[in-house]
Amino acid sequence: MPVIPSHAERFARLTELLAEWQPLWGPMPFQHRRLPWAEAHPELADRLRSLDDAQCERLQAAPFTASPLAKWLPVGELESLVALPELPAEGACLPPAWAEHMGGRKWQQVAAFVPRMAAQPEAKLLEWCAGKGHLARTLARHLDREVTGLEWQAALCRDGQALAERRGARVRLAQQDVLAPDAARWLAADTQVAALHACGDLHGRLIELAAEQGSAVTLAPCCYHRSADAHYRPFSQGGRELAAEHGLSLSREDLAMAVQETVTAPRHVRRHRQRSNAWRLGFDALQRQVRGLDAYLPVPSLAYGRMPDSCAGFCHWAAERKGLSLPAGIDWGALEEEGQRRQAEVSRLELVRHLFRRPLEVWLVLDRQRRLEEAGFRVELGTFCDRELTPRNLMLRASRG
Ligand SMILES: C[S@@+](CC[C@H](N)C(=O)[O-])C[C@H]1O[C@@H](n2cnc3c(N)ncnc32)[C@H](O)[C@@H]1O
Repeated sequence: MPVIPSHAERFARLTELLAEWQPLWGPMPFQHRRLPWAEAHPELADRLRSLDDAQCERLQAAPFTASPLAKWLPVGELESLVALPELPAEGACLPPAWAEHMGGRKWQQVAAFVPRMAAQPEAKLLEWCAGKGHLARTLARHLDREVTGLEWQAALCRDGQALAERRGARVRLAQQDVLAPDAARWLAADTQVAALHACGDLHGRLIELAAEQGSAVTLAPCCYHRSADAHYRPFSQGGRELAAEHGLSLSREDLAMAVQETVTAPRHVRRHRQRSNAWRLGFDALQRQVRGLDAYLPVPSLAYGRMPDSCAGFCHWAAERKGLSLPAGIDWGALEEEGQRRQAEVSRLELVRHLFRRPLEVWLVLDRQRRLEEAGFRVELGTFCDRELTPRNLMLRASRG
């Protein structure tokens, strides 16, 4: 029987491993023609480059399974450190008819979240960053109780209120900026807050207010990098001490890695992304020549569907955005091929980052867990649904009672 590490042990060991291997998972292969670590780890880089497309795709989807990288990287230990239990659900399944007005995935997430809420009979229920209040509405119907939802966009409050009223659900959607000082008035010791996929600072604010007020929290965090801070400051004293001891320092870009997962993207979207990444890498080769400078030049992203329909079209667009004039006579076919070659190489070298993605996310959630424990909460941490439903499937369940 494998020994299951305590959260404290996980947190400490993950800090060590993330710090130790940061020189390998930190640099983005997309930005480097010569990856900073490749010279020090030539065998690892060669092994990655030698993977075929099928192996590469398999490792993207399941980085810990039968990984040829285990010879160089702590694959098995990382896998055991991120293995978290599924939090137990209570009560019967929700009626499928309640899915109306929600996307299929959102409904399944809500249906997995609600039975794990463990709502206390006397608690005042609050949804944090509610959008149209799909979760609030489902909770209100399931428990036949009043639920308040906070959302800052007036139109979402209005639409969500109408949806709830149509179903006779006792929901009140209040327009509230949760970052504003007056948001504190919604939380008290007898409040139980639900937050599904609240981004960085939004759930950070919830954790701080709950720690102050003693409100119970059920939280599935999301988008850890969406923060006003360019550098991560651990929430917990324990996290700050561990990070200082092991020299782990995380930028906003590092945090973004924790959510860059494409397992749920449909195949045609992934193919489209691959093609546009090859054009971007083609442009990268071109701009280095044109500027006479061997350095990465960030190019803004383009909304899905706005991508020009050829490599040449993309490069002209990008050059204009960056104020570069392109020479005549460019061999676009050769440039596109170079982009594709680089794209294949980048996606293989990125497998190192894939391996540390979930460990980083688990570390970030352990930091939130520790913050609440330090404030006297009892905190459970686990998953609330399969990762195919949403890769952001971690849940914290915390109460001081
Ligand atoms: C990622 S969505 C999650 C919505 C909902 N919980 C769900 O899972 O569908 C985040 C929501 O937070 C809202 N939001 C963003 N900033 C906010 C703020 N400062 N105060 C309150 N709500 C905010 C957005 O308008 C959006 O509806």
